[in-house]
Amino acid sequence: MTIGIGLLGLGTVGAGVARILATPQGRHPLVGELALRRVAVRDLQRQRPIDLDPSLLSTDPEAVVDDPAVDIVVEVMGGLEPARSLILRAIAVGKPVVTANKAVIARFGEEIAAAAAQRGVYVLIEAAVGGGIPIIEPLKQSLGGNRIQRVSGIINGTTNYILSRMADEGAAYGAVLADAQRLGYAEADPAADVQGGDAADKIAILASLAYGGVVPRAAIPTSGIDRLDARDVAYADQLGYGVKLLAVAEQVGVASDGTAELDVSVSPTLVPRDHPLAGVHGVNNAILVEGDPVGRVMFYGPGAGSGPTASAVVADILNIAGIRQVSGGRFPGQPAPLDPLLAAGSWRTCRLVDPAVTQHRNYVRLRTSDEAGVIGRIGTCFGEAGVSLQSIVQFQPQGGGDGSHAEIVVITHRVLESAFRAAMAAIEALPAVQAVAACLRTL
Ligand SMILES: NC(=O)c1ccc[n+]([C@@H]2O[C@H](COP(=O)([O-])OP(=O)(O)OC[C@H]3O[C@@H](n4cnc5c(N)ncnc54)[C@H](OP(=O)(O)O)[C@@H]3O)[C@@H](O)[C@H]2O)c1
Repeated sequence: MTIGIGLLGLGTVGAGVARILATPQGRHPLVGELALRRVAVRDLQRQRPIDLDPSLLSTDPEAVVDDPAVDIVVEVMGGLEPARSLILRAIAVGKPVVTANKAVIARFGEEIAAAAAQRGVYVLIEAAVGGGIPIIEPLKQSLGGNRIQRVSGIINGTTNYILSRMADEGAAYGAVLADAQRLGYAEADPAADVQGGDAADKIAILASLAYGGVVPRAAIPTSGIDRLDARDVAYADQLGYGVKLLAVAEQVGVASDGTAELDVSVSPTLVPRDHPLAGVHGVNNAILVEGDPVGRVMFYGPGAGSGPTASAVVADILNIAGIRQVSGGRFPGQPAPLDPLLAAGSWRTCRLVDPAVTQHRNYVRLRTSDEAGVIGRIGTCFGEAGVSLQSIVQFQPQGGGDGSHAEIVVITHRVLESAFRAAMAAIEALPAVQAVAACLRTL
């Protein structure tokens, strides 16, 4: 029984999907039942990395969705619109959707889920987070019996590539970014990657699955690596840490009405060298899930790219095709259980707590005048605010310095954010402190 596929987009991911569909030999037999019926692109004249019958291509994505020969709509065009409207249009006509579009799911997942639940169609999103790494289905299904304590991940390959090279070569952020753009690891406009927005989209999706409710994307505190100084990477290394752009979602409490109280954030973070996430280098991604009673489970692999992302997209297509096969050629009228993005309403409400009441370890680099007693005064400010310190170290300023200033690096224990901010305000007011040069999280 042939199943018609309509592709919206034939770029990096779309071409990877088309390539798998065109080469079913040696794959699951269901791949041979999938037939690419129509493909929406923007530019019919563009050279494509894959040889496709030109009559399949169209510049009218709505026509692809509406085509009666298309049974499953695969949205891999990216962007918010028209992607969101096309997904909703497919749902409205009862067609299941597979999408890799984290930006749409992070912002409109609730709307899409409600429409899908009402119409009784599947929307599967394995490729939206972690590229080729299976993480969506494990969170939805395989880890469903756990109370999830924390999901933390390196979920942006571009920034991990840049950070890995900064650490290995001692190179400056700007120089590595330019090189990454030249090599195709970073977009011409890298803002979504380097400012942390892409990772925030993905952690919003992971947190909504892990905690069973909608996590407000716009409320996630996000800082990227675009202002990271190479010397902090070097100092972190000397202190036994690597610097990673970490996206973290942690349950910090449960309100009396059952609301999950979450601390969700994206920030450059010092990761101890013996932590499992510290060994994730280059464009690879990894997601560490900590749950009760499972303990720690880590998912690791290629977080982007044509082949890996297409692998996840085609897995979703096969899931839907398999369900159709076992249900006698029809798609069943009800979406899968255990899927908060699809179930009729989430099973829980989630709320992000006020950042002031969250607790973290911190790394601070201070530029101070080089005089006796400065470290003591800084230590007193932390102590008076109730911030306990793990270490306080004076480094030789880069280039040896001219004797007029010193660099002091502090790593705190896990402390209340409001106490940390109070200490930092007092420290900034010290006459000997010239600048708070860097402030990063520490795992
Ligand atoms: N690239 C990755 O490694 C990766 C990994 C995970 C998830 N994703 C997600 O997958 C999606 C696709 O990413 P990509 O890297 O494959 O993007 P891409 O290379 O830019 O490809 C986008 C494709 O969509 C087509 N398109 C865009 N707007 C269109 C419109 N309005 N009408 C018709 N066609 C349109 C483009 O047509 P033309 O070719 O004619 O311009 C192009 O073929 C995004 O949501 C992205 O976030 C990507």
